[in-house]
Amino acid sequence: MPPAVRRGKVRSDATGRSLPVNKPVSLAVPDADAALVARRAAALPRYTSYPTANHFGAGVGAADYRRWLAALPEGAALSLYLHIPFCDTLCWYCACSTRATRRYEPVARYLDALEAEIAAVSALAPARHRVTHIHWGGGSPDILTPADIARLAAALRARFAVEEDAEFAVEVDPRLMTAGKADALAAAGVTRISVGVQDFDPAVQQAIGRLQGVEVTREAIGLFRARGVRSVNVDLVYGLPRQTEASLAATVEQVLALAPDRIAVFGYAHLPRRVANQKLIDGAALPGAVERFAQSRLLAERLAQAGYVALGLDHFARPDDALATGALHRNFQGYTTDRADALIGLGASAIGLMPRGYVQNAVAAADYAARVAGGGLATVRGWALSDDDRARGFAIERLMCDFALSLDAVAARFGGAAAAAVRAVAGSVLADDEDGFVERTADGLRITERGRPFVRHVCARFDAYLDPEGGARHSLSV
Ligand SMILES: C[S@@+](CC[C@H](N)C(=O)[O-])C[C@H]1O[C@@H](n2cnc3c(N)ncnc32)[C@H](O)[C@@H]1O
Ligand code: SF4
Repeated sequence: MPPAVRRGKVRSDATGRSLPVNKPVSLAVPDADAALVARRAAALPRYTSYPTANHFGAGVGAADYRRWLAALPEGAALSLYLHIPFCDTLCWYCACSTRATRRYEPVARYLDALEAEIAAVSALAPARHRVTHIHWGGGSPDILTPADIARLAAALRARFAVEEDAEFAVEVDPRLMTAGKADALAAAGVTRISVGVQDFDPAVQQAIGRLQGVEVTREAIGLFRARGVRSVNVDLVYGLPRQTEASLAATVEQVLALAPDRIAVFGYAHLPRRVANQKLIDGAALPGAVERFAQSRLLAERLAQAGYVALGLDHFARPDDALATGALHRNFQGYTTDRADALIGLGASAIGLMPRGYVQNAVAAADYAARVAGGGLATVRGWALSDDDRARGFAIERLMCDFALSLDAVAARFGGAAAAAVRAVAGSVLADDEDGFVERTADGLRITERGRPFVRHVCARFDAYLDPEGGARHSLSV
């Protein structure tokens, strides 16, 4: 059901582009949808990889990674992910691999290890390659001093052949941003910043241990725009404690006024048994599944109304953004246009994807540094991909990105038993689709409008390793 909205005037945003000022005024979830959500909400993976990272094992280690790097073809396109596992303070909701530090010394020591790993990995990669994407994530990469930002970027460019027009994204905590850091990041060649907001409502911010005004966020974004870094992503989270449709409706207007190019809208993953800091969150103040559903609908409706294109499960982009105009892919950073032959993960806990499989570094910074010092690589676990994994992973990625799956494409790419396995799952998904989540197409299946919020349920049917007891590990599916 479309939301009841008031049609409004047009005003300008921070970049002078016009925005409609319509506000959603009512988004009541129809009873039938509420019943469906209550019945189907389940703990399921977000499928940023297949198999999901909890299945990675010690059967894959540094020796495999060494071989897999050496087997990359000459001229390979590479994507580099660098993990900075430090923050100024730890937000209570945060499920990222990071820790709070008030002293800079552990960060500086970590950078020494990171530089050593960059040297070791680049020496094993093909001499002729081209880096098309760089992503610094965390944690908060903007905890680095301007000098260390320059040092890290220089180390990367000295060791890897970074393309002139490479996309270079950095996750930033706006509360840490300074003009000097923005200078250093812009000089390093950053093309997009990704800014954490979550919710601007003071009551919600109190309940999640993250206090961040609109002004500090606007100033941080402004520092980059003034330096020619035009592309801005903002992260929002729904399903947080004390969050309501009204609080989110206000937040989304404040976010729209910042005119981001992309907006990621994550459903809060509350996993206090696995994420210790989430024990600080009052579980009783969390919205239930139906309220979460209403919140996500409110955000999606308002962003669509403001001219953003909905992409996959949780991303929105301006129609002229590469994410909206190009082919969508999914990796550990979420939705991306990245099509590189290999994703190289650098830093503690970083995950890489080679043509032959996944590799993950030691999670604890001290363990990571000791391993790098001992042999250059810090791989502790991973997964060697089978043909069956590749075909199922392709099916899951296409469903997460396109809400559709072409069995002809699966057959053309994989053939044999792997394609037959995917075809069999697709047949059974169509056959026992009681809730109207899917429909048959000429060469496969498509997720229906009604089924879109439940796409993870359909993907889970293709997951040969799904753990029915995975409740403590995965987030709520709606
Ligand atoms: C590395 S942080 C972003 C950059 C920076 N550290 C900051 O917070 O501003 C990555 C993002 O993950 C999301 N996130 C973290 N924990 C989450 C959780 N438990 N559930 C859903 N999203 C979460 C938040 O939107 C957060 O902005
Ligand atoms: S949300 Fe960002 S700033 Fe907060 S703890 Fe997580 S990584 Fe750090």
